[in-house]
Amino acid sequence: MKNYTSIKDISSLSDIIKEAILIKMNPFEYSELGKNKTLVMLFFNSSLRTRLSTEKAAKNLGMNVMILNIDKAWNLEFEDGAIMNMSTSEHIKEAAKVISQYADIIAVRAFPSLVDKAKDELEIILNSFRSYATVPIINMESSTAHPLQALADAMTISELSKKKTQKVVLSWAPHPKALPHAVANSFVTMIQQLGVNFEITHPEGYELNPEITKNTRINYNQEAALKDADFVYVKNWSSYKDYGKVLIENPKWMMTKAKLGNAKFMHCLPVRRNVVVEDAVLDSEQSVVIEQANNRTFAAQVVLKRILENL
Ligand code: CP
Repeated sequence: MKNYTSIKDISSLSDIIKEAILIKMNPFEYSELGKNKTLVMLFFNSSLRTRLSTEKAAKNLGMNVMILNIDKAWNLEFEDGAIMNMSTSEHIKEAAKVISQYADIIAVRAFPSLVDKAKDELEIILNSFRSYATVPIINMESSTAHPLQALADAMTISELSKKKTQKVVLSWAPHPKALPHAVANSFVTMIQQLGVNFEITHPEGYELNPEITKNTRINYNQEAALKDADFVYVKNWSSYKDYGKVLIENPKWMMTKAKLGNAKFMHCLPVRRNVVVEDAVLDSEQSVVIEQANNRTFAAQVVLKRILENL
């Protein structure tokens, strides 16, 4: 693997899931692979799970890890030909090359503005690092994708699947803030390759990018969509069409124990209790959110392992 910026960088989802599960069984098997190699993690936005699980994964492989919160560094300029007489102090062209001298792999987290759809879809920060860095790049959640989360989710579903064909539902949930589409996008892209019976349920107006959902079944009736589900992945996202807007705050879409039936409850975390999902779900055996978060380490570790093997 050269880079991991999208689910599309995975050649075989089933093979990488199997490898991640093997790594989970013996996490220190490759503890020499990353010796004298350095992972630099750059955070333009906050993180709990991604930061700690990726650091843990790198250390399991024997790597050194350096972390930089970008708000503590120089304000970066991304525009080619910019006259830098305003607030930016350093151009990405220098910054990415400089960081590449300290790193064998660079991981980047950079969320969208949720104001300018066209600009967000250009993935300027992530793609600038891909263009100007001289080492592999890992996406730790960008404007439109969260492939490390999706890989951990795929692992979790594979581990917990009890029958051959699973019904998986992605169910929109209310949230007071406008949230990005990245988790939902990567989950959809991943699940389309997993060979499960999949549908998405959300209120009208919350359609995701049709280039991502393609011909996935969309059901505006949450109760009908959830019928006989084995896994229910709950996530809020803001409107894609009316970009970045919160159209409704309908509490009826919150996930409840009654709606969940016998399904497993999935969420990437962090989650707002009793807004997105009621306590009774999160506090039940049906919730697998802690397992998902645990699998973040092994998803990151299999990605780092494959990139290290390709250096
Ligand atoms: N799920 C996830 O990416 O969590 P963090 O934002 O805490 O990294």
